[in-house]
Amino acid sequence: MTRTGTSIWLCFFGVLIMLTGPLIGADTKPGKSPEKSIEQKTKIHRLDTQERAPYDAFTYLNRIPAKADEGEDILDFTARVYSRLANQEGRILIKLPQGMTREAYLGYKIFLSTDAKVSNGNCVTCHAPDKFTDFKLHKLNVDSPPRPTPSLRNLTKRKIDLSKALQAKLAAAKSPNAPKAYRNIHLNKMDLTHLQAFLKQLNDVDDKAFRELILNAKILNTLLD
Ligand code: HEC
Repeated sequence: MTRTGTSIWLCFFGVLIMLTGPLIGADTKPGKSPEKSIEQKTKIHRLDTQERAPYDAFTYLNRIPAKADEGEDILDFTARVYSRLANQEGRILIKLPQGMTREAYLGYKIFLSTDAKVSNGNCVTCHAPDKFTDFKLHKLNVDSPPRPTPSLRNLTKRKIDLSKALQAKLAAAKSPNAPKAYRNIHLNKMDLTHLQAFLKQLNDVDDKAFRELILNAKILNTLLD
């Protein structure tokens, strides 16, 4: 090859590297992801969760802590949530995004309740936010094998039959052989309806729909309860 021929080739590769370099760089450099931030994508201020269910819009709107702090007992966490809810209810400031109806809100409180004689779901003991699992194994009764607590997010996508799952819980609650966490469950028929309404709010929507849930939230008046 002649000298001019070689320089033309060198020049060509030089330009090629200049053009593709930044692209390759953007893909490989850690911490320099071309992905937009959650805030940019949703145009929602101070949103720090990746979760996209009506429940997450609800916790965002009412500034409810998303999960227990590192090392925090689940009962201390639910106490924090209850105090926040009481505060918001007292000032008629509970904001409900579409889907989080009054029934679903009541279901949420039953889900969180761990020590009441009635309407006590005790669900939060095992299905702890924000993933709705404690990542542990539990037995339904003394003879059954231990099973991992599944997350309760996106149950619709996983085709879970809610009423069937809840009936299994009720059966466990009545069995004297069941672990205490199940025997602590006290639910009537209405509570089951409310719990189901709540569990349906754990199904993800897309970013645009999520933004609309936040923008179009309504105030819940609990003073009439
Ligand atoms: C003692 C821990 C514990 C408690 C309390 C508990 N669960 Fe569960 N849950 C589990 C485990 C473990 C499974 C999976 C195995 C099974 O079905 O028992 C499960 C399964 C489920 C499922 C089926 C989900 C799936 O992916 O199959 C639903 C729905 C559910 N629980 C809802 C609830 C609700 C609502 C409450 C409160 C009324 C509750 N759970 C209380 C541990 C618990």
